[in-house]
Amino acid sequence: MNTHRSKSNPETITEGEVSRHWDDNADVWTEHVRKGWDTFREHLNNPAFLKLVGNLKGKTVLDAGCGEGYNTRIFARMGAKMTGIDISPRLIEHARQAEKREPLGIRYETASFTNLSIFRDESFDTVVSTMALMDSPDFDKGVAEIYRLLKKNGDFFFSVSHPCFMTRGFGWVTDRQNNQEKLTVSGYFSKTQRVEHWQFSQAPEEIKKQVEQFAIPVFPRTLAEYINPLVSTGFVLKKMVEPRPSAADCREHPYLQKWRDAGSLFLHIHCVKP
Ligand SMILES: C[S@@+](CC[C@H](N)C(=O)[O-])C[C@H]1O[C@@H](n2cnc3c(N)ncnc32)[C@H](O)[C@@H]1O
Repeated sequence: MNTHRSKSNPETITEGEVSRHWDDNADVWTEHVRKGWDTFREHLNNPAFLKLVGNLKGKTVLDAGCGEGYNTRIFARMGAKMTGIDISPRLIEHARQAEKREPLGIRYETASFTNLSIFRDESFDTVVSTMALMDSPDFDKGVAEIYRLLKKNGDFFFSVSHPCFMTRGFGWVTDRQNNQEKLTVSGYFSKTQRVEHWQFSQAPEEIKKQVEQFAIPVFPRTLAEYINPLVSTGFVLKKMVEPRPSAADCREHPYLQKWRDAGSLFLHIHCVKP
């Protein structure tokens, strides 16, 4: 997926540290995402997520962990009334600047999805969250806040790295031609929080040499640790999606092939507040 992965091992990572890491990542992240170099988002993750979410026209929607607002703007262009929150003030600054340049009626606030007291109960028809809930030390609190903010029958859609494949011991086994043929899964139950360093693998090599790698705090969870808090909070699970590139997608974007053959990179979940 991404290049130059290396790991350091702090014992526990606080929300304050998550915010600082994402502030440090913010400028390069914003530029590279907007240039389309997050190609797994463009060609695999977003197409499947947008299909799952369906029609948001006229809905009042919260994007929890919106980053610099790339996906928030997509939802707004679909006709949703968007609010985006993120724990990184710098990413929110980038999001607001984009809103100034291209007004889509999006409200952005710096906040943690584990404490959204700036919003009243039942303020939103729908909550979406793309690749953000996995980046917090407290998934369960985030789920409880999102439940509180949803109206009755409100939808909650989110994506995370697939917990069963993107494990601590994730790696590729190569064949004789050096093709990444099989993936390794191990350390599935490891609770060791860590900071991973990587870049978008499809960004130009020249650019990658010029900038710092992203430093991304990682909080390992098993599949059960994603599903059980949803159920115990009161959500009804509607659908899970494990996006798989089609044969045609792989012909157009050959780097997707291994995610057609070996395992699933992302997990998408749709649940409802009854
Ligand atoms: C991988 S980025 C995804 C950003 C955006 N959703 C996107 O798809 O481009 C993860 C985001 O989660 C945010 N984040 C992590 N913990 C958070 C928290 N507790 N509350 C709000 N945002 C959080 C980070 O600041 C970062 O912007």
